[in-house]
Amino acid sequence: MAVERDEVSGQNTTGHEWDGLKELDTPIPRPAVWAYWLTSLFAIVFWILFPAWPYVTDFTRGLLDYSSRATVIASVAEANAARNAADRAIAEGDLYALAADSSIRAVHEDDASILYLDNCAVCHGRDLKGQIGFPNLTDAHWLWSGDVEEIATTLRYGINTGHEEERFAEMPAFGAQQMLERGDIKNLVEYVLAISGREHDADMRVAGAPVFEENCSSCHGEGGEGGYGIGAPSLRDDQWIYGSDRSDIFETIWAGRKGVMPYWGDRLSETEIRKLALYVHWNADGGGE
Ligand code: HEC
Ligand code: HEC
Repeated sequence: MAVERDEVSGQNTTGHEWDGLKELDTPIPRPAVWAYWLTSLFAIVFWILFPAWPYVTDFTRGLLDYSSRATVIASVAEANAARNAADRAIAEGDLYALAADSSIRAVHEDDASILYLDNCAVCHGRDLKGQIGFPNLTDAHWLWSGDVEEIATTLRYGINTGHEEERFAEMPAFGAQQMLERGDIKNLVEYVLAISGREHDADMRVAGAPVFEENCSSCHGEGGEGGYGIGAPSLRDDQWIYGSDRSDIFETIWAGRKGVMPYWGDRLSETEIRKLALYVHWNADGGGE
């Protein structure tokens, strides 16, 4: 294993030989040596500054006392604090002022919409436009009121829920309770079609008018315009909770209706209720006015 000089390259061999092949004693390339020392140095500095070596139950913590867990905990706490501060604005602010404040809407619309989807969409639809039996919340026609405080009250206590603060409203069953004859009800259906601007039988409408005046206007208004904040809808618009066909309207007058809107006062926090009232208000046509 003698070290000798290779004739072709002029470089020394290491003295190792395998099957007649001799290994040149080529030095490690400079950049690799540098990389080695630099990375070693980096590792040592890293070990000193940051958590690195495990003990049995603990680990070296490093001079900087850095902890990724502490960083996460701190940023979660920071996000919560920001959210609590934003929620405090909802909890403590004047609802009318909040309703008019577009920066509040920008901050809260997303979490309010999640609350809405979780709790309300099943009845009022993902788009708030309702479905048969459940009113559209985006139109300008309200059973009770589009006033944001009034919406919050509706949410808190519900409609026809039996809660002692409930909103109570009932469309009486004029046929089933024998308050009106079938013929009167048929005339009323034509009258309702007429005031909602649709094709109808003119003679029956004329016959229905005084019956409406006597039996219906006390709740729905002289011209059926509704909107008195007593739960009776307008019969003049194209929004129908229970359907707009002759047979739907007949059924409503014959058998009555008593929709139930659950109350949320014991299921959602007051802040959530206020947030949802704002959400409904923001999405209503004309801002709910
Ligand atoms: C189980 C079905 C159901 C759920 C869930 C529900 N509602 Fe209702 N809601 C109703 C019904 C039915 C009415 C109408 C009651 C009536 O016809 O008198 C109503 C009425 C309302 C009204 C009154 C509308 C007006 O014109 O005055 C508002 C506002 C409202 N709901 C908002 C909500 C919000 C917000 C949620 C979610 C927290 C929600 N509702 C969840 C069934 C529901
Ligand atoms: C005591 C008050 C009251 C009286 C009187 C009354 N209504 Fe109603 N009416 C209501 C209420 C409240 C509703 C909504 C019921 C609900 O949403 O569950 C309603 C709903 C209706 C609807 C359904 C509207 C829709 O959007 O689907 C029609 C149609 C209607 N009433 C017609 C009449 C007619 C016709 C008379 C007279 C025979 C009459 N009402 C008398 C309170 C009344």
